[in-house]
Amino acid sequence: MPEVIVTKRDGEHSIIEFMEGATLMQAMSDGGVDELLAICGGVCSCATCHVHIDPASVSMLSPMSEDEQFLLEGSEHFNEYSRLSCQIRLTNEHHNLRVTVAEED
Ligand code: FES
Repeated sequence: MPEVIVTKRDGEHSIIEFMEGATLMQAMSDGGVDELLAICGGVCSCATCHVHIDPASVSMLSPMSEDEQFLLEGSEHFNEYSRLSCQIRLTNEHHNLRVTVAEED
């Protein structure tokens, strides 16, 4: 099964298996990353699923939508590697994607 590698806020790494078609947010929640609040449930309106993509993994992702960018730019922890994990739909090509949970706003 494909996996993503998640670094939590305390620096601990988790290797999380995912089913193709899940969002990164769903995979992280199912994988026990409980610091990812995802308050809006994945409809791109809360930004509490904010992650930073490892620079080496950025090319694995499609560009973000305007809505995603607008929300992220409101975060004090926004940077060029920011994404909303609920907006990333995983396929087998995302195997070994590396992300870090962003600091809480
Ligand atoms: S879960 Fe709310 S924006 Fe991603």
